[in-house]
Amino acid sequence: MAMDKPAISFEPPRGMRDFYPAEMALRNRVFDAWRRAAALCGFQPYDACVVESLELLQRKAGEEVSEQIYAFDDKSGRHLALRAEMTPTLARMVAARQGSLQFPLKWSAIAQCFRYERMTRGRKREHYQWNIDVVGEASATAEAEVLCAATSAMRIMGMPDSAYRVHVNNRALLGELLVRQGFAEEHHAAVFLALDKRGKMPDEEIAALLRAEGLPEEGVPKVFELMSLSSLDEADAMLGGGSPAVARLRELFSLASLYGYADRLVFDISVIRGLSYYTGIVFEAFDTERKFRAIFGGGRYDNLLTSIGGDPTPAVGLGFGDVVVGEVLKEVLGGDAAPARSGIVIGYMFPEQRDAAITLAARLRSEGRDVDLALAPSKPKHFFKRAGEGTALEAVFLGPDDIASGTARIKNLDTREEAAIDLPAL
Ligand code: HAM
Repeated sequence: MAMDKPAISFEPPRGMRDFYPAEMALRNRVFDAWRRAAALCGFQPYDACVVESLELLQRKAGEEVSEQIYAFDDKSGRHLALRAEMTPTLARMVAARQGSLQFPLKWSAIAQCFRYERMTRGRKREHYQWNIDVVGEASATAEAEVLCAATSAMRIMGMPDSAYRVHVNNRALLGELLVRQGFAEEHHAAVFLALDKRGKMPDEEIAALLRAEGLPEEGVPKVFELMSLSSLDEADAMLGGGSPAVARLRELFSLASLYGYADRLVFDISVIRGLSYYTGIVFEAFDTERKFRAIFGGGRYDNLLTSIGGDPTPAVGLGFGDVVVGEVLKEVLGGDAAPARSGIVIGYMFPEQRDAAITLAARLRSEGRDVDLALAPSKPKHFFKRAGEGTALEAVFLGPDDIASGTARIKNLDTREEAAIDLPAL
């Protein structure tokens, strides 16, 4: 007697997602907005391999993401990994063609990224991340364009301006403040990574991280004090006025008013970012009520190209994930997050009306209309029930009388209004 095989789980592996058609609708709403906003702001699409060499992705200790890498050896013993983010890949691609590319580059990609995360709300082990980056421009106009694309995408996907804020800071400002407090620059990177964990771990643990970095006991409260600065004026005053990092932030805020999105930006000294390659302006977008994790995050990373062996090249960009924004959209828009109905569904009562249904579908499709044609006859009740639950806006159902008269009725499923439609001669 044959042994039954153990049943295979129908669930995807933990942290991975399937997208059934109903879920694809929301995903497409987000992806379409990303692509539209990239085009609107002049970012060119690019793409890359999902598998990278582990060497490219492995970085200094202290960053969460380097501990979350899905790594494996291929059958020839190459050390490989699934990308956890797009930025190292972008740097590699730019470095590979540094002599021939036209700078500044404005590039856009939707990249699936993999991180072995602790599963919490808004965090999966796989997500899609829209990346927009400007490479080869040192001025704040680069930050301004990147944020223009991100805020445009928010509008296109239907997110109200009042529903989120982009919290902006400058690592150079924190650097100036730390120097002012007497902390040598060599400690700054570790202080940044420790401070980024605020809110995710207790302050005592962060204090321990700071002490482990060699900060003297009396220095720890001073670092926490910096985190309570609430305005650029306050920060500037603490630095004795004339801070270049403050000036840079002010420049970005004034560019943002020209662009028309300054109402969505706020200065927030606590935004530091958990990746060590950022060198200047950093930012993170959150829903206004702060119920969810960051919607997008990014900043300036002027040294990444040199750190992988490329020529010095300033760069700034952001990653905008599909998970959190999907949750915020569902919360903010409710039922309106579903896409509007579109297209026509055609059905018929008996096999005798099949050919008329096919020729009507063929004519409408040749006119560029989206048509979902029934594959078999059905009772009108079943057809209209299915059509009502589907995504088409209009429905045509052919019976013997319609064929005899040469016209049928096309019904708008939203308004219930009906109009006549001529049937093609068979
Ligand atoms: P990141 O902050 O690590 O930055 O990720 C950016 C965004 O990706 C987050 O704000 C979030 O929307 C989404 N995200 C990240 N991890 C997950 C996860 N496990 N599940 C769901 N969503 C997630 C970066 O990756 C930088 N490389 C962005 C960048 C591009 N900086 C410059 N250019």
